[in-house]
Amino acid sequence: MRILVTGGAGFIGSHFIRCYLAEHPDAEVVNLDKLTYAGNLENLRDFEDDARYHFMKGDICDYGVVEEAIHGVDVVVNFAAETHVDRSIGDPEGFLKTDVFGVHVLLESARAHDVRLFVQISTDEVYGPTMDDPFAEDAPLTPRNPYSASKAGGEMLARSYFTTYGYPVIVTRAANNIGPNQYPEKVVPLFATNAIEDKPLPLYGSGDQERDYMYVTDHCAALDLIIEKGVPGETYNIGAGNHMKNVEMAKLVLRELGKSVDLITHVRDREGHDFRYAVDSTKLMELGWEPEYDAETAIRRTVRWYAEHPEWWKPLKSGEFREYYEKQYSKRLEEAGDQQGS
Ligand code: NAD
Ligand code: DAU
Repeated sequence: MRILVTGGAGFIGSHFIRCYLAEHPDAEVVNLDKLTYAGNLENLRDFEDDARYHFMKGDICDYGVVEEAIHGVDVVVNFAAETHVDRSIGDPEGFLKTDVFGVHVLLESARAHDVRLFVQISTDEVYGPTMDDPFAEDAPLTPRNPYSASKAGGEMLARSYFTTYGYPVIVTRAANNIGPNQYPEKVVPLFATNAIEDKPLPLYGSGDQERDYMYVTDHCAALDLIIEKGVPGETYNIGAGNHMKNVEMAKLVLRELGKSVDLITHVRDREGHDFRYAVDSTKLMELGWEPEYDAETAIRRTVRWYAEHPEWWKPLKSGEFREYYEKQYSKRLEEAGDQQGS
């Protein structure tokens, strides 16, 4: 089996490649990645000399590059995306390009080359927030930020290839992943690395918002199963039911590191902040999936990894991230200081 993994130098894609090659020693993986700020070859450095693994630097929006990468491929798993909600609020254009147009280029090429399955990695954010029962796969999509709106566009296009051309597509909608190698813009690695450096943890708004914090290898196991047993044309939710309020998550991170809760700093909320996502994963569980990690274990394992691997995240935090952090947080932290002082 030869798989084209796009975005495999990022957080989830790199774990997926690692897990898939461990489970399927005869498989071959082509990793096509543009290496944006979020792509990091360190994540798979130990596979560099593995004959089953081939890295190709390139953009999924580029027909020529995708044509080259897709030769002889049985399955495409598309992780490549712009993924950070806050960045999409500041500058949506790149999200539309990669998360919608990029999916179009991949689908066209995969169909032309008779690739036997196309897995589009989508997100639980496409449903929008809910305080009620978790959403099943047939719930309407009401994305509320430029990231989730572009992911909804990408997955709808993918599903249209099934209904229009009978092309075998599966869409997956996963909850918040956490674990090693996640870029420190996302909340758990941001809070863990800030806490290690005795910097404030910028908690948006009240901190009462909830997320379903799923350990990344649970997501990878779900995808492996879906590739093997999933039904083309279907959509699968992937949620662990690991809901926790952001403020509780922040306290847990600090407790695990032995740091003071005084580092928690309430800052101005994210614009249009979705309060809570929740998906019903019954359909996936019927295929035989069960998450291994609960929220607390997933968060503690993740925090410990960051504490033990400063060589991975310190260079990132002093690179591109610095400018982003300044733009995203300096005003917010200043306002929070003003409020405390008044
Ligand atoms: P990430 O930001 O860590 O990695 C994205 C990767 O895609 C990077 O390696 C980047 O270089 C690459 N990339 C970006 N644009 C590209 C382009 N035009 N061509 C080729 N490569 C490109 O993302 P992640 O958190 O690992 O998420 C992976 C996928 O899973 C995304 O599709 C995301 O929407 C989805 N998802 C993420 C989560 C989560 O909690 N992180 C949850 C549900 C779904
Ligand atoms: O639900 C799946 C989605 O999870 C994925 O599709 C996205 O790619 C991924 O980024 C993630 O989106 P979120 O917006 O939920 O993740 P983020 O880590 O940005 O924020 C998680 C929660 O923490 C959210 O309620 C906002 C809050 N937060 C976030 C940051 C970055 C803070 O309180 N402070 C922060 O500094």
